[in-house]
Amino acid sequence: MSSTALMNNYGTRKLTLSKGQGVWVWDDQGNRYLDALSGIAVCGLGHAHPAVTKAIADQAATLTHCSNLYNIAVQEELAERLRDISGMSKLFFSNSGAEANEAAIKLARLFGHKKGIAEPVIIVMENSFHGRTLATLSATGNRKVHAGFEPLVRGFVRAPYNDLASLKTIAANNKNVVAVLVEPIQGEGGIQTPSDDYLPGIRQLCDDQGWLMMLDEIQTSNGRTGRYFNYQHYDLLPDVVTMAKGLGNGMPIGACLAGEKAADLMQPGSHGSTFGGNPLACAAGLATVDTIVNDGLCEQARIMGNYLKQHLARKLAGCANVVEIRGQGLMLAIELSEPCASLVDKAAEKGLLINVTAQTVIRLLPPLIINNEEADQLVDILSDLIKQEL
Ligand SMILES: Cc1ncc(COP(=O)(O)O)c(C=O)c1O
Repeated sequence: MSSTALMNNYGTRKLTLSKGQGVWVWDDQGNRYLDALSGIAVCGLGHAHPAVTKAIADQAATLTHCSNLYNIAVQEELAERLRDISGMSKLFFSNSGAEANEAAIKLARLFGHKKGIAEPVIIVMENSFHGRTLATLSATGNRKVHAGFEPLVRGFVRAPYNDLASLKTIAANNKNVVAVLVEPIQGEGGIQTPSDDYLPGIRQLCDDQGWLMMLDEIQTSNGRTGRYFNYQHYDLLPDVVTMAKGLGNGMPIGACLAGEKAADLMQPGSHGSTFGGNPLACAAGLATVDTIVNDGLCEQARIMGNYLKQHLARKLAGCANVVEIRGQGLMLAIELSEPCASLVDKAAEKGLLINVTAQTVIRLLPPLIINNEEADQLVDILSDLIKQEL
C-alpha cells in the first residue's frame, strides 16, 4: 500500500521490501525474491554486503557529514581510487546520476565559453536517458520524459544512436557544438548496444573537431558490463565520464570525472553540493569500489553475463515472441515482439524481481555476485513465464 502522503510520480507500487541479503530480498509478508534488478543497477555487491555495512557503520559512528567547507580524507581517498581506475585526472562528487550529468553539462558549457562560443551546443542521442533535472531531462531523448516540463533547456542537438554519419553531418553544419554526450549502452532505452566502431568513431570525431567526448556511465560503470567502466572495453579514454548507481552499493553518490581537457574548468564557486562527497557516502563508495576490484567482480560480471545469455538462449530457443537476447556483462535484455510490462508482477508472484523498459524489453541487472545456482533459478522462472504467460 502506498501512503497518500507521497506524490504520485512513482504510481502504485505493490511490494513493500523490508530486508535483503546477497541477491535476495524479502517483503513485509516474509516472501523471498531473487533480485534481478539490484535497485536498478545499484546494489552490485548484493544487499547488506558486510564490507559496505561496516564502512557505513564505522563512518556514521565517527563523522557522518561536515560539508565541503573542509577537507574530507575519505573523499580524497575515493577520488584518488577512481582517478587511478578510470585514467581521468580530477572529479566532482554528486549525490545522484542526474547531478553527475549536470556537472558534465556545465563542464561542456565552460569549455565552450572558454573557446569563445557564446551559445555552446551538446550533441545528445535519440532514445537516451540522462536524468530528471531540467537540464538532464532536456538532454534525454524521450518525449515522455519532457512532457509537461517545457520549456526545455536550450543547447542540445539530437542525433540517432549508433549513427556516426549523422554526427558528421551535424559537425559540418553547426559550429557551436562543443561536446557529445552518449551512453555507451543505452539502459532505459532498452539495453541498446552500439556497433564496435561507434565509440572509437566518436572519439576520433571529437578529436578532429575539438569537442569533448562525454560518456554517461551512470548505469554501465562499477563493473556492470564486465570492466570497471564500459569504455575500458575499447582502446580509448573519454574527456568526461559520469557515474553513480553502483558506486555506493545503495548509498547515494555519483561522480563526474574529467580528463585533462576538462579537469580544470571549474573554479572555486562555480559548482558545488551540500551533501556531494560527504564522509558517509564516500566511506560506502570506497568499500564498494575496493570490493569490486579486490573480489574480481568485473571479471565475474563478464563470466556470469555470458552464462546467463547462453542459458537464456538455450531455454528460449524456438520461442516465437523472443526477438533478441542481448547486452554485455550483467546488463542484459530480452526483447520480445509484444509489450510485456505485465510480466513484472507475474515474475514477482514467482519470486523474481525484473524490470521492463521500452515497452517490450525485459531488463536484467542482477548483483555482480550472482552465482550459477541463482542464475539457473532466474533463467528457469523467466523462461517459463515468457513461454507460458504471453
Ligand atoms: C544512463 C543514465 N543516466 C542518468 C541516470 C539518472 O540517474 P539518477 O536517477 O541517479 O539521477 C540514469 C538512471 O537511470 C541512467 O540510467
